[in-house]
Amino acid sequence: MLNEKTNIALNKQIALEGNASAAYLAMAAWCERQGLKGCALFFYEQSAEERMHMMKIIHYINEMDGHAVIPEQEKPRADFDSIQELFQAVLLKEKEVTAAIYDLLSISKESDDHSTTLFLQWYVAEQREEEAQIRTILDVIKLIGSGGQSLYFIDQEVDKINKEKAKEESAEELEAENY
Ligand SMILES: [Fe+2]
Ligand SMILES: [Fe+2]
Repeated sequence: MLNEKTNIALNKQIALEGNASAAYLAMAAWCERQGLKGCALFFYEQSAEERMHMMKIIHYINEMDGHAVIPEQEKPRADFDSIQELFQAVLLKEKEVTAAIYDLLSISKESDDHSTTLFLQWYVAEQREEEAQIRTILDVIKLIGSGGQSLYFIDQEVDKINKEKAKEESAEELEAENY
């Protein structure tokens, strides 16, 4: 059974993950409009991942006999000045989510809720990976610069990350099948 404080904090996390999913969907649409196919695919996938993060929490709360609340959705930002500014906004968002996960962990540890503490470990690792990935992309953007054809090359680099991620995912699926 979840205590009330943890349940409320987990519900806040549902909202954060849901809002991130919507924010990335809007970013995907923006990228697609700019002809940045690699970046668009990256954010469509990212949006699906954030939805999965949200779903995991909903299932966890229910499994723990708590009460999952589906929140109202914030209207996501739809316009960006540049691809660099967009990825900077993503890094800020991910840092906020990481901070929220750490706050949640403090709450679960305070109440000796070992199950929730264990559940949150997955999110700690996920946040570390996501933040690192966005920093890598920001580094690439800095290296390539903002000259005439730079957007084309930035998009190619992001698409390489898409392909690496797809490979990792299919390897994980294969591992799960063989398990
Ligand atoms: Fe997430
Ligand atoms: Fe995320």
